[in-house]
Amino acid sequence: MKEQLARIRSEALAAFEQAQSAAELDSLRVQYLGKKGELTAVLKMMGKLSAEERPAMGQLANEVRSALEAAIEAAAGKLEAQALEQRLKDEALDVTIPGRKVKLGHKHPMYLALDELKDIFIGMGFTVLDGPEVELAEYNFDKLNAEEGHPSRDWSDTFYFDAGSRVMLRSQTSPMQVRAMETMELPIRIIAPGRVYRKDEVDATHSPMFHQVEGMVIDKNVTMADLKGTLNTVVEQLYGKGTKTRFRPHHFPFTEPSCEMDVQCHKCGGVGCPTCKGEGWIEMLGAGMIHPKVLKMAGIDPEVYSGWAFGIGLERTAMRRFKIADLRLIFENDVRFLEQF
Ligand code: PHE
Repeated sequence: MKEQLARIRSEALAAFEQAQSAAELDSLRVQYLGKKGELTAVLKMMGKLSAEERPAMGQLANEVRSALEAAIEAAAGKLEAQALEQRLKDEALDVTIPGRKVKLGHKHPMYLALDELKDIFIGMGFTVLDGPEVELAEYNFDKLNAEEGHPSRDWSDTFYFDAGSRVMLRSQTSPMQVRAMETMELPIRIIAPGRVYRKDEVDATHSPMFHQVEGMVIDKNVTMADLKGTLNTVVEQLYGKGTKTRFRPHHFPFTEPSCEMDVQCHKCGGVGCPTCKGEGWIEMLGAGMIHPKVLKMAGIDPEVYSGWAFGIGLERTAMRRFKIADLRLIFENDVRFLEQF
């Protein structure tokens, strides 16, 4: 029995020493000290000893048990310390490593062009307005003097939401003229940029969604000369001093007289080239003096007040400003394109 105890002691101590994990140590504890453990088995045989042998052997057995328990505790402490060290190593944070750069994007070229336009108009005392893209036909058409039956109201051109053709995606920013007239104090000087929608097929110059900037001034004694003077100033600021413009007669239901303004081609200086399709001029916007009927419908006396308005296509302005050849590039969001601005 003595030898058995000695063997258990030396085997167990060696095993505890070598345990690699808390779980392994625990199963060793069960193997030696558990109910069916090796030491327990020896202790159970104690009863078969003679009365003289028993006390000495009992003492020895207790010593072995204490030694084993102490060894387990020591091994557990060692494993715990090792685990902690490992975790500290694994989770170490090197605060001297240079940080990862946060990539900042930048404005889309079309919004760069819009910012330029806004700056110019704000500098001239205009207010920037925002308005609904889901619009009432009443504002998009009726109050702009485009009555039932006007070709622009056709289902083939316009995105309506209802069979009654009452609610629609605005086809122009011009309804903002009326919204401004109805809500603002006179005199009024506003621009209203935003998305507009028409049933157009996508190609190099068309998209069913595009952007316009509406502009409007209403005051006493406002004339066509003010319109031309203002737009000429804007064009010179956008495209450089001395850039020429040309006003051609046109028709819009809500302006009278109406015109379109062309800018002399930036590529050829007016001689004619592929960019301006040989014309020497590039169409830039529609404009005109606000129709007296439109003023009256909005509750403004056309005998006292007059005004002008214009609507400019933002994509085309950006395309000219940054020499972009294809409208689709503006909407495709290809970073190889966008990164160039
Ligand atoms: N809304 C017109 C268009 O989309 C442009 C325009 C605006 C014309 C203001 C005159 C005055 O074609």
